[in-house]
Amino acid sequence: MDLGLKDKVALITGGSSGLGLAVARTLAEEGARTAIASRSAEKLEQAAASIGPRASTFVCDMGDTDAREQLVGRVEKTLGPIDILVVNGGGPPPGGFDDVSPQQFDQAINEHLGAAVSLFHGVVPGMRRRGWGRILTITSLFVKAPGRNMILSNTARAAVCALTKSCANEFARDGITVNSLLPGYTATERLTSLTETMAERTGKSRDDVVDELTAGIPARRLGDPKEFAAVAAFLCAEQASYVNGVALSVDGGATPNLF
Ligand SMILES: NC(=O)c1ccc[n+]([C@@H]2O[C@H](COP(=O)([O-])OP(=O)(O)OC[C@H]3O[C@@H](n4cnc5c(N)ncnc54)[C@H](OP(=O)(O)O)[C@@H]3O)[C@@H](O)[C@H]2O)c1
Repeated sequence: MDLGLKDKVALITGGSSGLGLAVARTLAEEGARTAIASRSAEKLEQAAASIGPRASTFVCDMGDTDAREQLVGRVEKTLGPIDILVVNGGGPPPGGFDDVSPQQFDQAINEHLGAAVSLFHGVVPGMRRRGWGRILTITSLFVKAPGRNMILSNTARAAVCALTKSCANEFARDGITVNSLLPGYTATERLTSLTETMAERTGKSRDDVVDELTAGIPARRLGDPKEFAAVAAFLCAEQASYVNGVALSVDGGATPNLF
């Protein structure tokens, strides 16, 4: 199926590794011109080299309000108007209510909800003028079923999903779709680091921690970032024009909820 993505311009934040990189790579394979953004110039260069000539790099810390407000302008100066925005980034640190400070809550809300708001403001006026746009927010399976010891992620991601759904209602008439993808346990650097932390906390080996995680997933395995990226690419496609405001789990069936 031709997804109609040839020469579309896509900005993927958190695009230097893991899910963001996999999404950028798949969009580039479908012919899109991709702008990948993250904090580390070195990681970005490596990521762009792995994607090929359809990738450009932009250093930007999503926690820095001024930097993220300038990001869309920087990308558009280099690549032209942005057709596709994928809002992604690092995950907040694990912990329960007693483990995290009010400042850490502020930081998590700023880096996730604040970043999405800034980026939406940057891209939506142009998408509205052109009558076409695709926006994805990458959140977490914890939006539908809050995870234990993940209070920052549970809280900040639910807020991003509420923003996503609200904006889908407002932007749909202008040909813009706004959806959220909720990854489950997927084999990326972040998951490695989370499982190492869990192993340290519990005194178990990392392999045992991974076995325990996968035992709770109907698919009985971790996800592959490519599986996630294929779903993201479809939601960015012409053919997905009537899919709007969804919070779609890509988690091997791990979310126990019916809806
Ligand atoms: N993998 C999973 O199993 C899983 C499950 C549920 C939810 N998620 C969520 O999905 C998202 C992506 O996960 P992942 O596994 O792909 O993580 P990852 O491999 O750690 O990648 C995170 C990406 O975000 C960038 N980043 C981190 N902090 C940033 C900041 N302040 N500003 C700009 N870029 C930043 C990183 O690059 P730099 O270091 O260069 O900034 C990197 O490109 C995360 O929010 C994660 O919590 C993942």
